[in-house]
Amino acid sequence: MDRELLKQKDAQYIVHTYNRYDIVIDHAEGAVITDVDGRQFIDLCSGYAANSLGYQNAAWLEAVKGQLDKVQHTSNLYYSEPGVLVAEKLVKKSGLCKVWFANSGGEANEAAIKTARKYGNTLADHKKNTIISLKKSFHGRTLATVTATGLAEAQEVFAPLVPGFVHAEVDDLAQLEALVNEYDPCAFLMELVQGEGGVHALDKDFVQGAAALCKEKDILFIDDEVQAGIGRTGTLFAYQQYGIMPDIVSFAKGIGAGLPIGGIICGPKTCDVLVPGDHGSTFGMNPVACAGACVVLDTMDEDFLASVREKSDKLRSALSEMSKVKGLDGLGLMVGIDLDGMTGAEAVNQLMAEGALAIPAQSRLRLLPPLTISDEELEQAIAVLKKVLD
Ligand SMILES: Cc1ncc(COP(=O)(O)O)c(C=O)c1O
Repeated sequence: MDRELLKQKDAQYIVHTYNRYDIVIDHAEGAVITDVDGRQFIDLCSGYAANSLGYQNAAWLEAVKGQLDKVQHTSNLYYSEPGVLVAEKLVKKSGLCKVWFANSGGEANEAAIKTARKYGNTLADHKKNTIISLKKSFHGRTLATVTATGLAEAQEVFAPLVPGFVHAEVDDLAQLEALVNEYDPCAFLMELVQGEGGVHALDKDFVQGAAALCKEKDILFIDDEVQAGIGRTGTLFAYQQYGIMPDIVSFAKGIGAGLPIGGIICGPKTCDVLVPGDHGSTFGMNPVACAGACVVLDTMDEDFLASVREKSDKLRSALSEMSKVKGLDGLGLMVGIDLDGMTGAEAVNQLMAEGALAIPAQSRLRLLPPLTISDEELEQAIAVLKKVLD
């Protein structure tokens, strides 16, 4: 379809919840996206951290196509192998106990919230159901996850919100302790590396202090790894760099490598909280998405994760030399950049004109390249970044 006609139909037939950039994507390979006019872009966005293995990954394609040839969907009424294999891998790699599958990050966090509420209402040392999340956090767009989200602009028009959520200051353990005493929560919900809020890696002492409070007061620690998880930070999960063990980890995005899948991994306190009838999802544990997810998890062995850390070091050291870069935040290949004299949104537009796709996060520039970006592609990306940020 002609690009102008496509844009016109998009405006006419699609509810306008996104402002799109003026690019019509045609195909992609490796870390390079090609639009319908043949323009090429180095992808430093990965479909919002979803395309963890880049494009046309041979092993992933083979697994997904192979599963499509067998059966595309089964429902949760019957047993099916791919989901069980993904769950086994997630449990063994995380040290947690059991997995519940959804299709997106918001749905994963919704399941975490329901688990925490049921735990607090029926199983904790006494009845409690308030959830403390952090300011500047982002947890999704369902009504409960919008309420948990600490970016105020996303919330007010949807009032009345879901009761029982309180927002704490980022990295302020004394205030968190005070809120615990005031509200008696059943759970903390936090991204260890805040994505939408500006790609900020939480302070380690704060996270460890929060985890200690959880142990002491029978509070569940819910770690939202929807953006930071599945290798993005240089370990399979970000919590593995913080020296804590959450009670629930939510995941989505990168595990699907481009197909919709999400879920929660539950620890000993939470793995048997939800029982038949409590919760469900028609497409949860879809065999095609799970066949692909098996390849993602098999790919992310120690050597692969070491390569993510190496690429992160290379990218961050090149960025730190650029004159408009004031500071770097985030972990691994989840990079937040404070800029001198330009906003993240302005940088994104200039990068696009030079042939690279990135995204803003509040005032910062955010880079989320595919974890499989090659050395050559990374060099190319650094050259484009230099043109705009130096
Ligand atoms: C940390 C975090 N949690 C939850 C979500 C919501 O995920 P989804 O858009 O798949 O519902 C996102 C999406 O950007 C996210 O970054």
